[in-house]
Amino acid sequence: MKAHDPVRQAARLLRGRRDAVALTGAGISVESGIPAFRGSQGLWGKYDPAEYATIGAFMRNPAKVWRMLSEMASLCGDAVPNPAHAGLAELERMGILRSVITQNVDGLHQAAGSRQVIEYHGNMESLVCIACWKQYPTRERWVDGTTPSCDCGQILKPNVVLFGEPIPWLAQESAEEEARTCGVLLVVGTSAQVSPACDIPRIARKAGAAVVEVNPEETPLTASVTDIHIPGAASEVLRTLVGILRVPGGPPPEH
Ligand code: APR
Repeated sequence: MKAHDPVRQAARLLRGRRDAVALTGAGISVESGIPAFRGSQGLWGKYDPAEYATIGAFMRNPAKVWRMLSEMASLCGDAVPNPAHAGLAELERMGILRSVITQNVDGLHQAAGSRQVIEYHGNMESLVCIACWKQYPTRERWVDGTTPSCDCGQILKPNVVLFGEPIPWLAQESAEEEARTCGVLLVVGTSAQVSPACDIPRIARKAGAAVVEVNPEETPLTASVTDIHIPGAASEVLRTLVGILRVPGGPPPEH
């Protein structure tokens, strides 16, 4: 056993402090086969987000943005939760984790059994009309390869947050409240480059929470707000963490 094993340190924190909250990003779903946005395999390597992922781009050319969204939907389509999603759901059942704030729109936290999920960037489950705001379940209106339209004849947009759009009010409020009141913020698989999601760890830290970061890479958070960095893949780390926390009496001392 490594001295000062960060997973054990994190387990000790999670057991000792009440009310942990997780903040997740695309990295947690990589092991489910969904590539992240940034990095060599990322979706933004193929699609320039300025051209394909802003609300301005959508209003100018919805069919073009729907092509990127179709690819995103098909990447998410067959994916199933991996042990990292399952681990967070298990921590919730164990009474250790209070909620998950996710930037992902893939629905895998809910599929894994997490109940308290704040979808910070929305989801692909529903569509909204850009003119009259009428909403529809995605499966009722959208066929892959097409640009869905409303009964009023206007274009439908998925209820995901594109660059330049505000975070849904309730998600923003509840995420900030969770950050201000948690004992530990467990940050998993985000590059922490996109605002305002990247402010959540800062809000938590400022309010007194400990910040644990699970990411094979360092991020802008690592040297500034992170208390414990666990440089590993999410599924392996979460599996180990849950295993340690399941042992009655707590993690054995470090040596
Ligand atoms: N386990 C943990 N972390 C991983 C793993 C893994 N197996 N694989 C990759 N990562 C990390 C990467 O090192 C990277 O830091 O996940 C992070 C993914 O970063 P991004 O692709 O930038 O994803 P994310 O932070 O969720 O992006 C935020 O940007 O464009 C938007 O709206 C999109 O919600 C998204 C937002």
